[in-house]
Amino acid sequence: MHAVALTALKGGVGKTSTAVNLAALSAAAGHRTLVWDIDPQAGATACLGVKPKLRGGAQRLLGSDRDLGRSIRPSGTPRLDVLPGDVTLREADVIVGGSRKPKRSLRRVLTAVAKDYDVVLIDCPPGVGPVTEVLVRSVDLLLVPVVPAPLDLRALDRFRDVLGDLGAPPELLAPFLSLVDRRKPLHRRLVDEVRTRERFMGAVVPVSSAVERMPLEQVPTVVDAPRSLAAIALRELWAEVAERLDLPPAPS
Ligand SMILES: Nc1ncnc2c1ncn2[C@@H]1O[C@H](COP(=O)(O)OP(=O)(O)O)[C@@H](O)[C@H]1O
Ligand SMILES: [Mg+2]
Repeated sequence: MHAVALTALKGGVGKTSTAVNLAALSAAAGHRTLVWDIDPQAGATACLGVKPKLRGGAQRLLGSDRDLGRSIRPSGTPRLDVLPGDVTLREADVIVGGSRKPKRSLRRVLTAVAKDYDVVLIDCPPGVGPVTEVLVRSVDLLLVPVVPAPLDLRALDRFRDVLGDLGAPPELLAPFLSLVDRRKPLHRRLVDEVRTRERFMGAVVPVSSAVERMPLEQVPTVVDAPRSLAAIALRELWAEVAERLDLPPAPS
């Protein structure tokens, strides 16, 4: 099982939209895929047409041994399931941070799903709290959407510092450009600068009305509008992620 977390210090940068679309691409490639929505806003859950209700809430998910299977819901897409988020997850940092063995609660979830899924995409809330601190040490890749704006690039530098403090290897971090609007001169300039200067993924996800309407359609953009520029970029991003994970071709 391969685990990928969508994380960033900032909100509103495309974590949720990317998690949902990459999960749909993973499932379409034949991998048994789970979206674990660990954000109390439960946006990924909603985008996949699943009710934002976590059976037993965050306390039961993170605080006790239990049958996780009963919490997981199918999405409308074959091979793609959801471990839903709901508002009780606002307590997740308190539960994990307050536990004597913070690693155990989250790793137990990952271990429990490892036999049933090939790929797990974890949609994190913004910021770095105890939950993200543990996930950083438990996943194979940290995908970080970055909007090409000066403060967003600063936020990425700070995020790198935090990961360094947590002892995460630098190659775990996979930033990529998100919400890029090529009509803006600053975006064009910063996209070029970032691509020559830093270790970003090659895919650049543009601003797209097809992505914006996903919460309404409740169908991943790559399925709903496969020919949109955003869907093309997301497929490129998925190909890069699959390569980084050394994901074996799915059985046909
Ligand atoms: N490529 C995109 N083009 C247009 N709108 C986008 C794109 N990606 C995300 N959005 C919109 O931007 C907002 C924030 O995106 P979201 O994926 O929820 O970010 P995050 O999870 O980082 O908070 C949402 O309204 C979403 O629909
Ligand atoms: Mg989100």
